[in-house]
Amino acid sequence: MSTQPIAVFDSGIGGLTVVRHLRSLLPSESLVYFGDTARVPYGSKSQRTVAAFSLDVARFLMQFEPKLMVVACNTASALAMDDLARELPIPVVGVLGPSAAAAARLARDGVIAILATEATIASGAYPAAVQAARRDARVEAIACPLFVPLAEEGRTSDDPAVRLIAEGYLSPLRGTTIDAAVLGCTHYPLLRDAIAAALGPQVAIVDSGREAALSVQQALAALGMLSAHSARGSMRCFVSDNPQRFRRLGARFLNEDVDSVEFVEPERYATPAASALPPA
Ligand code: DGL
Repeated sequence: MSTQPIAVFDSGIGGLTVVRHLRSLLPSESLVYFGDTARVPYGSKSQRTVAAFSLDVARFLMQFEPKLMVVACNTASALAMDDLARELPIPVVGVLGPSAAAAARLARDGVIAILATEATIASGAYPAAVQAARRDARVEAIACPLFVPLAEEGRTSDDPAVRLIAEGYLSPLRGTTIDAAVLGCTHYPLLRDAIAAALGPQVAIVDSGREAALSVQQALAALGMLSAHSARGSMRCFVSDNPQRFRRLGARFLNEDVDSVEFVEPERYATPAASALPPA
């Protein structure tokens, strides 16, 4: 049993769609969240930059002595998991591994669509994880970068612009019988209905936040580290820029009000090495 918090980080606000599932599955756990809103997006950046930023943020969160670190950002899960697992002295759960495993399990004939940011798709990490879970799987990977600003702008699945863009991204899959599709980016669950409509009714949708939350529950149970409290756990958020915007938009991503958001100055989280990386 443990009173230590679970640490969660993302490139910005999107990771709150993962926290939403953590809060409903593990309500008595306390959470400490960092959104790197000064350096978002990660989804168009290189591996070395995403790994350096992720390590900065994870090191900042270690001061709260968390029992486990959740990499809520799909891009960081795709590009920085090895670096994080090597450096951190606590278990690290990313969103990618559990989602790839769920898709491999759910896809009847093994044909899986991965929808994610440019960097996640370019990394090849999702197809590798799917194929490690299921050798006969076939993966169609599609970058859908416009879904991120659309979700942040508050556009929803019934917006004609969202429907049109979802059609544009997903119509190349028309000739293929997709069995399962992974919402492999923090923002995509907010546009789930439009994405599902463009894919067709036979496709099982995998929400990476839900799969990660289930994995966290299993990991903590196996370690005997689940919270024994009966009261609802606390939640404390830190951001590297614009806490007002995080609070305002956050309620939609989290499905509840974001009460506590604190601004963190760069010198408290960004190592000079990470901010002054030479071009790759
Ligand atoms: N959080 C990122 C992800 O899940 C999306 C936003 C970004 O590009 O940083 O991949």
